[in-house]
Amino acid sequence: MASELPITRNPASAETAEAVRCAVRLATQMGSSRLARIEDAAGLYTLLSDPAVHAPIYTLPRPLTERSVEDFIETHLLEREVGIGLLFLREGEGGQILGYSDVQVWPEFGAGELGGALHPSLHGQGSGARGAAESFGWMFEALGLGLICETASLDNVATQRLLDGLGFRRMGEVTSLRSDGTSRASLVWEMTRSEWEGRHRKD
Ligand SMILES: CC(C)(COP(=O)(O)OP(=O)(O)OC[C@H]1O[C@@H](n2cnc3c(N)ncnc32)[C@H](O)[C@@H]1OP(=O)(O)O)[C@@H](O)C(=O)NCCC(=O)NCCS
Repeated sequence: MASELPITRNPASAETAEAVRCAVRLATQMGSSRLARIEDAAGLYTLLSDPAVHAPIYTLPRPLTERSVEDFIETHLLEREVGIGLLFLREGEGGQILGYSDVQVWPEFGAGELGGALHPSLHGQGSGARGAAESFGWMFEALGLGLICETASLDNVATQRLLDGLGFRRMGEVTSLRSDGTSRASLVWEMTRSEWEGRHRKD
């Protein structure tokens, strides 16, 4: 997660920050996705090893190996214990991993970020936008976040259209650091909970 994020930094009260950490520690499911387990390393590596999946994502391990994916899962299990991160997997009927969601939160700002990807066989059919909308709704409601901050690389048109389409506000550009120390330019978007509810609440 880039240290320049989120762009909007309204300090949360100590109670709000602790409530967010607590909600993260207790989370087990996000929609139809479940928490990743160490035993998922091989299946998740298979999904991530396709460049159509990993190339646009700066938060994935580099080099990408089954071992580094196992470390990635373990790091998220530790982040869940501390209340700052969650890794969810979407499984197909035969147990194939069809997608992942990486939730990172900044409890001190009551803010969070969602990253992730779908299996290439599912790209471009509206699944990403539907799943992202459900996940953002869950992050505001179940985690009690007041702000979601998102990034996309300059050439990731699908993610840009997805975020614009859900009503996120463009907040400029930052430099995102990858785990191997290389960097890339990222566009940034934000959305507050009240903006989300005004736009997406189903009465
Ligand atoms: C990003 C991702 C989750 C989007 O999911 P998706 O199911 O492919 O996207 P959708 O079909 O819901 O489409 C979302 C928008 O992107 C557009 N889009 C989809 N694929 C596109 C492509 N290849 N080129 C340009 N636009 C595209 C759609 O038309 C739609 O925009 P619209 O509503 O304005 O028409 C998916 O493509 C993915 O996993 N990509 C690889 C990893 C990644 O980029 N992750 C996000 C960065 S963290």
